[in-house]
Amino acid sequence: MKDILCAPFVEEMKEITANMYRLGWDERNGGNISWMLDEAQVGEYLDLSRVVRTIPTGFEAKPLIGKIFIVTGTGKYFRNIPKYPERDLGIIRIAEDGVTAELLWGFSDGGKFTSELPAHLMSHMTRLSVDPANRVVMHCHPTYLLAMNFVHPLEEKALTHTLWEMCTECMVVFPDGVGVLPWMVCGTNEIGIATAEKMKEFRLVVWGMHGLYGVGKDIDEAFGLIETVEKAAQVYMLSYNRPRINTIRDDELVEIAKAFGLEYRRDFLNL
Ligand code: 13P
Ligand code: ZN
Repeated sequence: MKDILCAPFVEEMKEITANMYRLGWDERNGGNISWMLDEAQVGEYLDLSRVVRTIPTGFEAKPLIGKIFIVTGTGKYFRNIPKYPERDLGIIRIAEDGVTAELLWGFSDGGKFTSELPAHLMSHMTRLSVDPANRVVMHCHPTYLLAMNFVHPLEEKALTHTLWEMCTECMVVFPDGVGVLPWMVCGTNEIGIATAEKMKEFRLVVWGMHGLYGVGKDIDEAFGLIETVEKAAQVYMLSYNRPRINTIRDDELVEIAKAFGLEYRRDFLNL
């Protein structure tokens, strides 16, 4: 059996959480990540027949039975994950009943998975039905996007349009736009259901005045979506209260979409 602490998926989680912390997106225990792993790959590092303990999830995830995820722990600081991966991360498998998580490794202090597991697993289910290659769900609290939430309408068309205008690359990176949920209580099945519903259409979902969800086939893709939104939000916050003398026009956004052969949300433009 190889050393789990040297597994590429543990290394990657250590690296990305450190990065997200340094970017200021994950203060204290803010943010959480879940990443669906390949069973054969995990089997090189762990005896898959050995369940450390079982933890009820509080909701049903039948389509994910037998699937294995590496997830961040609830209350754990991203800042500490590189130092204490075995305590602050866990590898879970959804049990045969669909409502229990089998802990295969981690959460060594008796801890458990993120309180946002409903939003994560429900989003995995939805995204897998739209895109079978999806593997990662990432949540964080990016500073400029959060600031923007307080001064810009929390509406999908308006918010996406503003973000597209802020950097030429935005249309290329998220032509499908950004979904928006109003402020809701976090950590509940209700916000999980609402997030997963938005994930039918969007790979990015804003939780009003809370943070952002991004998904993708790997960590890079989910992270790349989030950092592009955050960059656009930063440009917006640095410029929105000054006279705007230049802008990327809607017909130019269409030109980008055409040049890159993109399927984009035409109804989010004002043409
Ligand atoms: P957890 O510590 O349970 O992951 O919660 C952090 C968070 O960002 C809540 O939305
Ligand atoms: Zn959060």
